[in-house]
Amino acid sequence: MEVATMSDQLPAGVERRAFDGVERLATRGDPVYGEPTDGEWRAWDPTRSKLGAMFELGMETGLEGDDTVLYLGAASGTTVSHVADFAGPTYAVEFAPRPARDLLSAAQSRPRLFSLLADARKPETYAHVVEADVDAIVQDVATRGQARVALENRRFLADDGRLLLAVKARSEDVTSDPDDVFADVETELEAGYEILERRRLDEYHTDHLGVVARPK
Ligand SMILES: C[S@@+](CC[C@H](N)C(=O)[O-])C[C@H]1O[C@@H](n2cnc3c(N)ncnc32)[C@H](O)[C@@H]1O
Repeated sequence: MEVATMSDQLPAGVERRAFDGVERLATRGDPVYGEPTDGEWRAWDPTRSKLGAMFELGMETGLEGDDTVLYLGAASGTTVSHVADFAGPTYAVEFAPRPARDLLSAAQSRPRLFSLLADARKPETYAHVVEADVDAIVQDVATRGQARVALENRRFLADDGRLLLAVKARSEDVTSDPDDVFADVETELEAGYEILERRRLDEYHTDHLGVVARPK
């Protein structure tokens, strides 16, 4: 019988490699945020990336090399650049012009990374660009209404696709207990998704929840 190891959960193109003697997640591509490099490999910092934290914590993302990905809340490209290093076509949605400019430079050396200056709450504005039936939606929008954003973008996801969602409690409500906020977000999500795994990301990101879900 094969023994499952942590690395079994990593997509092709994501590896654990040693940087200065410390084993870290890594992808192959041009550096974007000052991360350490070793030849063509670049370290993936889980303290700067919720998806990186989900991998570090051993969550089963279901992501595979060459997957088509819709990434919501790309900011200046820290995480989505790692995704585009191993995935197939990667559509990166960001609505703030300033980080979107940096995102464009991260995309320069990544022909499969498509930057979209758009509001993730208005999927109809980018529906003509994003291909149908993406394999994964990665969402890290840190805004009020995070479940609604996931539900509104469900239309892009293949029936057997995955939602990889980072929920920031404080973006929903700064005063409530994060566990109560997460429970409300999960209840709302269940209108369109079945939750497969949930895990707090506090080791890397305070008051954040990682969720893996599939469309109902
Ligand atoms: C926590 S940051 C994302 C960090 C990024 N995911 C990373 O790991 O590199 C959240 C981003 O979501 C963006 N955002 C918030 N609401 C949005 C919306 N409705 N549509 C598009 N982007 C949004 C913000 O401008 C911000 O850049």
